[in-house]
Amino acid sequence: MKITVIGAGNVGATCANIIAHKALANQIVLVDVKPGLAEGKALDMWQTAPVNIFDTRIIGVTNDYVATKGSEIIIITSGVPRKPGMSRDDLIATNAKIVKEVTEKAVRYSPDAVIIVVSNPLDVMTYAAYLAANKHHSKVFGMAGILDAARYKSFVAEILDTSPRDVQALLLGGHGDTMVPLPRYTSVSGIPISQLLNQDEIDRIVEKTRQGGGDLVKLIGTSAWYAPGAAVALMVEAIVHDQHRIFSICAYLNGEYGLSDIYLGVPVKLGRKGVEEVIEIELDKDEKKLLNDSANAVRDLMKTLDEMKLF
Ligand code: NAI
Ligand code: 2OP
Repeated sequence: MKITVIGAGNVGATCANIIAHKALANQIVLVDVKPGLAEGKALDMWQTAPVNIFDTRIIGVTNDYVATKGSEIIIITSGVPRKPGMSRDDLIATNAKIVKEVTEKAVRYSPDAVIIVVSNPLDVMTYAAYLAANKHHSKVFGMAGILDAARYKSFVAEILDTSPRDVQALLLGGHGDTMVPLPRYTSVSGIPISQLLNQDEIDRIVEKTRQGGGDLVKLIGTSAWYAPGAAVALMVEAIVHDQHRIFSICAYLNGEYGLSDIYLGVPVKLGRKGVEEVIEIELDKDEKKLLNDSANAVRDLMKTLDEMKLF
């Protein structure tokens, strides 16, 4: 298994590191536009192998896509992250061009790879990668739902003073302020959240989840990477081991949830071939409205992508 990670910045390097630790690949190629960055980080990670005991060969290259040839998974993290005061949507002008360029180059050398997009604004960047890759939509998808659900679960575990591993949760919609955490689909070891927390507490957790990424930007001065990197690695694990795992990712909708020709966060079954199935869950009137509002916010941003006339 050969995996390419484009962008050797915070998220790219972190997910490469976790993928190596989990022994999910024989080879990882880190690619960056900044000379020496990918080479240096790859060398540093490779030198942890005798200490942390893994075999994955990690190499870094500057814009050399020949080295990525034959990758089975391509992870796109290249682009700029948010600074305080910016929304994810403010990144579109810069990141759309980068995502288009790197996708086209990577696909030339690895035509059969599945593509995981991380760059923001996530839902629209995943659509851009889909257009640039010219592949079936089951092979191109984005990471957000696992991260947003992880934040949500961590807040639930914190308020209940319980282990985060016992919290189950689902989250839909775009990776932005309109994301849709679903308390009705949240439980702790099978116990519905409504039996453990009152409505005010649940509302506060939902809001904190929506603001989760922004709160980290305020604290760090750039966006987060530990949880995003771990979330990408979980998707890679599901693909490499053909686990058919069900979790929310940013997937192409073709009529599901009454939405078409849009990438949005929904539960899917994920395995070696990519998205095997989009799972349609039952939503009540309020949940449907929230999902539609979120889809409309993503569609507004898709107009900006259209206006850029990149495709
Ligand atoms: P970063 O700035 O640490 O790393 C980005 C890297 O991309 C830099 O090293 C830069 O040199 C490189 N790059 C830029 N143009 C390139 C090109 N044409 N080819 C190859 N490399 C190129 O940023 P970070 O924190 O790693 O975030 C990366 C992206 O992921 C951002 O857009 C951020 O908003 C997004 N993000 C998305 C998340 C999600 O849940 N989907 C979570 C966290 C970050
Ligand atoms: C996050 O949610 C910025 O999308 C990134 O941390």
